[in-house]
Amino acid sequence: MKPFELMSFQNSHALAQTAAVAWLEEVEKSNRAGQLHCVALSGGRITREFFSAIVEIAGLRATDLRAVHFFWADERCVPPSDPQSNYRLARELLFEPLKILEGQVHRVRGEEAPAAAALCATGELRRWASPDQNGQPVLDVVFLGLGEDGHVASLFPGEPATGSTNPPAYRAVANSPKPPPDRVTLDYPAIAAARKVWMLASGAGKELVLRDSLAPSGTTPFARVLQSRRDTRIFTDIHVT
Ligand code: 6PG
Repeated sequence: MKPFELMSFQNSHALAQTAAVAWLEEVEKSNRAGQLHCVALSGGRITREFFSAIVEIAGLRATDLRAVHFFWADERCVPPSDPQSNYRLARELLFEPLKILEGQVHRVRGEEAPAAAALCATGELRRWASPDQNGQPVLDVVFLGLGEDGHVASLFPGEPATGSTNPPAYRAVANSPKPPPDRVTLDYPAIAAARKVWMLASGAGKELVLRDSLAPSGTTPFARVLQSRRDTRIFTDIHVT
């Protein structure tokens, strides 16, 4: 039994549209159950198309988003107004068009020192997402993108495994190979604890790294996420043989 479901698309638009419908259906399910819905967003190029698809389709479906609380899978350590900020991307393409209230948005404070921002983000997430048996806050959905080196969020290849078996949800990353160098990221246990992890894997030059990640013996950060969970959904326009 593979620990993932892979859905292939001809292009990034079809990927984004399908992922947006699937997520809005999850939000509507939470609404019917009278529950909050805690989602963690990623950055990257596919995210732009994904956010635009959400805005378009949420309007058509009249999805009530008032019970959704937004977190991040990772954030760059830059001010919230910086063009590199994942928060700014979401504010402009998602929160403003959908009139999401400030109280629903729990950004990582990229303007602060990374370690302090990670500590604060962990505390904020724990205020809203109930803990699992290991004390990890359980997000409803974590969205990930796939880097050309197989990174997800800001978890890059070659990083030492975190010493603690149950570290805080977020940690600081220095000297990231993908600029900017300082970041804050969900750590592996927090991603493993999420109810759903959905990978939006899009873009040229990622065929080999996606194929390597899907192998049971894979060693990329994405492979590590896949091997840490019973199920992960992969939406991809990358052709893997
Ligand atoms: C970030 C992202 C990062 C991204 C991947 C894929 O903050 O940089 O969270 O993990 O999702 O690098 O990015 P592309 O879709 O642009 O290749």
